[in-house]
Amino acid sequence: MPDAMFTFPQGFLWGTATSSHQVEGGNTRNDWWAFEHLQDGGVYDNHVSGDAAGWWEGEAEGDIERMRELNTNTHRLSVEWSRIEPVAGRWNYEALDRYREILTAMRKAGIKPMVTLHHFTNPQWMADRGGWAHPESAEWFRRFAAKVVGDLADLTDLWCTINEPNIYAAQSYFAGLWPPRQQNITRYFQVVRNMVHAHAQAYTAIHDVQPGAQVGLAKHMIDWHPMNPSSPLDRLMSNLLDSFFNGITLEVLATGEWKPLIGRNETIGEAKNSLDWIGLNFYQRLDAFFDPSNLKGLGIGYQARPGAPTGPEAWGELSPPSLLPLIRRLFETLNVPLYITENGMPDEHDTNRPGHLLQSLYWVWKACMHNYPVRGYYFWSLVDNFEWAEGYDPRFRFGLYGVDFATQARTRRDSARLYAEVCAANGFNTQMARTYAPEVVDELFPGVGDQPST
Ligand code: BGC
Repeated sequence: MPDAMFTFPQGFLWGTATSSHQVEGGNTRNDWWAFEHLQDGGVYDNHVSGDAAGWWEGEAEGDIERMRELNTNTHRLSVEWSRIEPVAGRWNYEALDRYREILTAMRKAGIKPMVTLHHFTNPQWMADRGGWAHPESAEWFRRFAAKVVGDLADLTDLWCTINEPNIYAAQSYFAGLWPPRQQNITRYFQVVRNMVHAHAQAYTAIHDVQPGAQVGLAKHMIDWHPMNPSSPLDRLMSNLLDSFFNGITLEVLATGEWKPLIGRNETIGEAKNSLDWIGLNFYQRLDAFFDPSNLKGLGIGYQARPGAPTGPEAWGELSPPSLLPLIRRLFETLNVPLYITENGMPDEHDTNRPGHLLQSLYWVWKACMHNYPVRGYYFWSLVDNFEWAEGYDPRFRFGLYGVDFATQARTRRDSARLYAEVCAANGFNTQMARTYAPEVVDELFPGVGDQPST
């Protein structure tokens, strides 16, 4: 009996993803570096990013070999603004040359780069001037985007302006966990607004420099549900959280109308039609409920469903089926092609990652079969890396390859072996599930038990 096979559309892009601060090391002129060195508990065990995965000093090249070993044909990375513009208005050409080297090596390996221009970190000069709350921040970003694309346009045409504006703003200005550690809801909306302006202006600036560019942004979506669907208060909480995290950037990108919960409505005309594609970063589902013990926090409570598979700590529920409705929503709202720009899970011992990967790919495949224009999938992450406020907490290992941060040695995990087979086959089959994730065989291939064994 031949194996059953889920095949993806021809030309589907298979990739991995990383970000500059998380893998490069030595990003001394950005706000995260300064934050880590406060050593006041803001990062797990007061870790500092240090050499990270060593990309700046040469490890990138070995990892590009690993991309090849995985049979991937694309990789999403970011360029570090603080390296390229360490002082406002002054360009560091050595840094641009190093990125040229890395992108060239990728192309030689047959890997198409997707380059993100902002992935959470800011140059210190920008942070000192008030960061993304500053009214000129969009203009600073536009200037930076035009410079980078002007310099590197011969190496790629696939650009992602900003990674997860909603998460950046929520962590930095609402939860107060990331620099500049503010808890100010008005500022949260102001920052998201400025990032939307920045994206829209960068979109135009990039197309001015490279008319054929494909420009999008990476949108983080949480799959919110009311814990008890028949409770009006739980529904209210779920809608509130959905609008706060998900709806906030989607609506303005679709309509050009900015309608924050707090602050003035405004027409941001350029935001409409500012996407050639949209990226979905997906990690978790959460159920919202009214929490009377948290009246200070507007009564907001949320949790994973009892008994559901979760990540460590407050990570939330791992929910591969959520991918389909989220893809549908992005497409119906924005009507542009999609990439899954991040998907993965923290899993120190690679116990559940292979099964989670196949379950997730199943729902991406289903979306493709429903004719949603999903063009590619970027697994987070290629290698273990610096996980922001979780630092190098071993529970937050995301890599297909493990990294020993003391020696930079890499270990190929089983999920890397599986992903290499998936990318080579442009899909996955029963045999791969049996070998790497027997626990998902019945779910993904329910008829398998009826087949005579060969
Ligand atoms: C971010 C990554 C991060 C990943 C896992 C995403 O929201 O873009 O930088 O490492 O989540 O937490």
